[in-house]
Amino acid sequence: MTDLELLALADTVAARAYAPYSKFHVGCAVLARDGRVIEGVNVENAAYPLGVCAERTAFSRAIAEGFRPGDFTVAAITASPCGGCRQWLPEMGVERVVFRNAGEVKTMTPAELLPESFVL
Ligand code: THU
Repeated sequence: MTDLELLALADTVAARAYAPYSKFHVGCAVLARDGRVIEGVNVENAAYPLGVCAERTAFSRAIAEGFRPGDFTVAAITASPCGGCRQWLPEMGVERVVFRNAGEVKTMTPAELLPESFVL
């Protein structure tokens, strides 16, 4: 699957977002080394800070299904990843991130998205 196909899948998945408050639907599709794709959407909550981003939904789902950090190659996101998700991307070990920002498709590494990321 190409990066643009993965991003097109993220677009499709975004329709399943639960975002009644912001009405900003985000989709994420993560490609694993074994060829499987794990999808995520943002899921909001009436207590606003409790909402979760599409990226974290996708990775949490993948981990719960048995994937481990390092099993992933690409994350495609319909929006530019937020600061919190930028901390997740290197920990999950994706090689690159494809996303849309202001109408442009960008491809960046996790280190480019978050230099000097926190490591415990
Ligand atoms: N959102 C994501 O799902 N991913 C990001 O990286 C950016 C922000 C969601 C969170 C919230 O539900 C909505 O977009 C508006 O901030």
